[in-house]
Amino acid sequence: MSTKNGHTNFLVTGGGGFIGSHLAEALVKRGKSVRVLDNFSTGHRANLDHLAGKIELIEGDIRNEATLQQACAGIDVVFHEAAIPSVPRSVREPEVNHDVNVNGTFRVLLAARDAGVRRVVYAASSSAYGEIGTSAKIEDQTPNPLSPYAVAKLVGEYYCQVFASVYGLETVALRYFNVFGPRQDPSSPYSGVISKFVTSLLTGQTPKIFGDGEQSRDFTYIGNVIDANMRAAESAAAVGHVINVGTASRTTLNQLLAELQQIIGTTLTPEYAEPRAGDVRHSLADLTRAAELLGYEPQTDLTTGLRQTVEWYREQTS
Ligand SMILES: NC(=O)c1ccc[n+]([C@@H]2O[C@H](COP(=O)([O-])OP(=O)(O)OC[C@H]3O[C@@H](n4cnc5c(N)ncnc54)[C@H](O)[C@@H]3O)[C@@H](O)[C@H]2O)c1
Repeated sequence: MSTKNGHTNFLVTGGGGFIGSHLAEALVKRGKSVRVLDNFSTGHRANLDHLAGKIELIEGDIRNEATLQQACAGIDVVFHEAAIPSVPRSVREPEVNHDVNVNGTFRVLLAARDAGVRRVVYAASSSAYGEIGTSAKIEDQTPNPLSPYAVAKLVGEYYCQVFASVYGLETVALRYFNVFGPRQDPSSPYSGVISKFVTSLLTGQTPKIFGDGEQSRDFTYIGNVIDANMRAAESAAAVGHVINVGTASRTTLNQLLAELQQIIGTTLTPEYAEPRAGDVRHSLADLTRAAELLGYEPQTDLTTGLRQTVEWYREQTS
């Protein structure tokens, strides 16, 4: 691997968020030099407290050219996680979704190209698939985005592919499927369902399900996503590709809630609300390409991941 000063320097955009802070932590554990760029619009400084003194933090916006220039200087690999990561928020605020998720990603790629960054690993999203049947989603299927968020994340993929083919910037787009784990923020109305369910159950509040609860997801523990990213930073075969990152197993929201109630020891009856606009009915990853190009297979299954996640939220609430 080519490096700028004898070792690989990493930039994590959105490193103050859920996934980004785990990436920063994993890189620090591997002895890498890590810079984080975040404006803390949805992330939290507290996510990086345990890394104080071990990372360089730039507080700024990915839409700002000067900030990006500073952030990309001397960097070999960028993990681009910064985004406004919410389907319902994109439905309510399509302009900010477009500005951060499309324009911001474009700016990150431009700045990376101009700074001579070797590789950008982009946080793409399974939402790009939209509603294309119940079977596992394969990367070659024609996307069918159903929300402004899904469109924006898909545009980011296309830009990644074009920056690879036209400008020679090595890019890899990882389509994450419903990531969960410690540090996922339950406080926003737009948060991931597992963080919401767990905090509701731990505090004795009625969990809320949008729709009938029979919609299914491929819930992916954060450790699996970190592993896929580390592989994507290295794999020569992955360059220019879009690759699913999930677990290839399907869980309905009703099953998820039942499993969490068992782990936590509650028997709360959920409240069912109207389905949300832009949400897909079923989402499941095919992992053939991830295995071929990254040698990836999920190491942590749903139950193990849920137990570790519950443990973390318990510590936070106690
Ligand atoms: N969590 C999931 O299930 C999931 C699934 C698919 C894709 N993704 C993608 O993964 C990435 C990380 O998501 P997450 O769940 O960790 O969300 P998160 O909200 O915890 O992290 C996003 C981070 O980006 C930062 N950010 C937002 N706008 C910014 C801007 N203009 N400039 C600088 N920083 C900015 C936020 O402050 C936050 O720290 C996102 O790109 C998201 O689209 C997440």
